Amino acid sequence: MEKRVVAINGDGIGREIVSAARRVVDKAVAKDNIVIHWAEHKAGGEAIDTYGEPLPQSTIDACKVADAVLLGAVGGPKWDAVNPAIRPEKAILGLRKALGLFCNLRPVRIFKALQDYSPLKPELVQDVDFVIVRELTGGIYFGERLEATGEGADEVAWDKETYHRYEIERIMEVAINTAKQRKGKVTSVDKANVLASSRLWRKVAQEKATANPTVAFDYLYVDNTAMQLVVNPGQFDVIVTTNLFGDILSDEGAVVSGSLGLLPSASIGTGTALYEPIHGSAPDIAGQGIANPLGTILSAAMMCRHSLEAPNAAAAIEKAVEDVLAAGYRTGDIYKAGMKKVNTEGMTEAILQYIK
Ligand code: NAI
Ligand code: MG
Repeated sequence: MEKRVVAINGDGIGREIVSAARRVVDKAVAKDNIVIHWAEHKAGGEAIDTYGEPLPQSTIDACKVADAVLLGAVGGPKWDAVNPAIRPEKAILGLRKALGLFCNLRPVRIFKALQDYSPLKPELVQDVDFVIVRELTGGIYFGERLEATGEGADEVAWDKETYHRYEIERIMEVAINTAKQRKGKVTSVDKANVLASSRLWRKVAQEKATANPTVAFDYLYVDNTAMQLVVNPGQFDVIVTTNLFGDILSDEGAVVSGSLGLLPSASIGTGTALYEPIHGSAPDIAGQGIANPLGTILSAAMMCRHSLEAPNAAAAIEKAVEDVLAAGYRTGDIYKAGMKKVNTEGMTEAILQYIK
C-alpha cells in the first residue's frame, strides 16, 4: 500500500526532529507493507521568508489531498516583530480551519524509565496514562469579542463562549471511541455550575453516556480537574473538554510528565489529520543537532495508527521508544548523570536499532 504524507518542517528545531521521525516511520511501516511518499511543504516563519505569508495556498492544497500531515513546530524570535496578520502561529490556526480539525488528542503517559522526571511524587505517577481530548475550533477562542474600548474605569473588553450541540456531540463521539480502545472511562470537564455553555456541554455529555452504556462517564468541574491532575492523575483515562479548558489542562498534563520533549499530539476532524509534538520550535537549541526527537517520533506513531492503517508500525515505534529509554539513552533535555548522553542523530539511530 502507498500513503502520501505532507511533511512541514517549520522553524527552529523543526527540520531536525521531522527528518528524524521520517527515518523512523519509513523503517517501521514496512511491518504493515506500506510505503510512504513524502512531500515537503512550508508553513510558519520559513513560509513567511519564502512567500511572504505563513500558510501558502500550495501547502493547504497539498495537505487536503494527503493521508496525513506531520509537522515540527513553527515560530521564533526572527518573526516576533512581523505584522500580526501574518504571524507564524497563523499557520497552525489556518491549517486547523482548512482541514476541519475540531479535535486535539494529547496522550500523557509516563515512561517507567522517566518517572523521576515528574515534579510529582513517584507513587502518584506510576499509573499515569491518559488522553486529553480538547475541542479545537469552537468556544471562546473563536467567539465574538470586543477589543478594549472606552476610557478610564469604564474601559471594557469581552469574549464570548459559544457551543452548539453538533460541536459537543462530535467531540463526545471522539472521546467515547478513544475510551473504547483504552480503559473505557470518559471524564467530561466543564464549569456547569456557572456557565450556560457548560450546562449544554454537560447535558449532551450525559445523553451520550446514556447511549453508550459500556463507557463509564463522570463529570468534573474544571477547577476540581486542575486539582485532581496533580493529586491523583492516575484516575484518568480520557478527559474531554472545551477549547479554553483543554488548552490549560493539556499544559498541566504535559508538566505532570516532566518531559516536554516526549509528548505527541494529533489533531483530527473532517479532513486530513495533523500530527505534531506539543513543544515549540526551541530556537535556543536550533541548529545544534541536540533536540529530543521523541515527541515527533511518538506523534508519527499516532499518525501510523490513526491515519496510515499501520498499527504494527505504531506499536513497534512506541515499544522502541520505551526500550531505548529503559536502556538509558537520553538527549540533553532529559539527561541525568550515569545515563548515555546522545544527540538527535544518536537517539534516532538507537530507535532505528530497536525497531526489530
Ligand atoms: P518551546 O517548547 O519551543 O521551548 C521551551 C523549552 O523547552 C526551551 O528551553 C527548549 O529548548 C526546550 N525544548 C522544547 N522542545 C524540545 C526538544 N524537542 N528537545 C529539547 N529541548 C526542547 O517553547 P517556547 O520557547 O515558549 O517557544 C519557542 C517558539 O515556538 C515560539 O516562537 C513559540 O511561539 C513557538 N511554539 C510553537 C508551537 C507550535 O508550532 N505548535 C507550540 C509552542 C510554541
Ligand atoms: Mg497552549
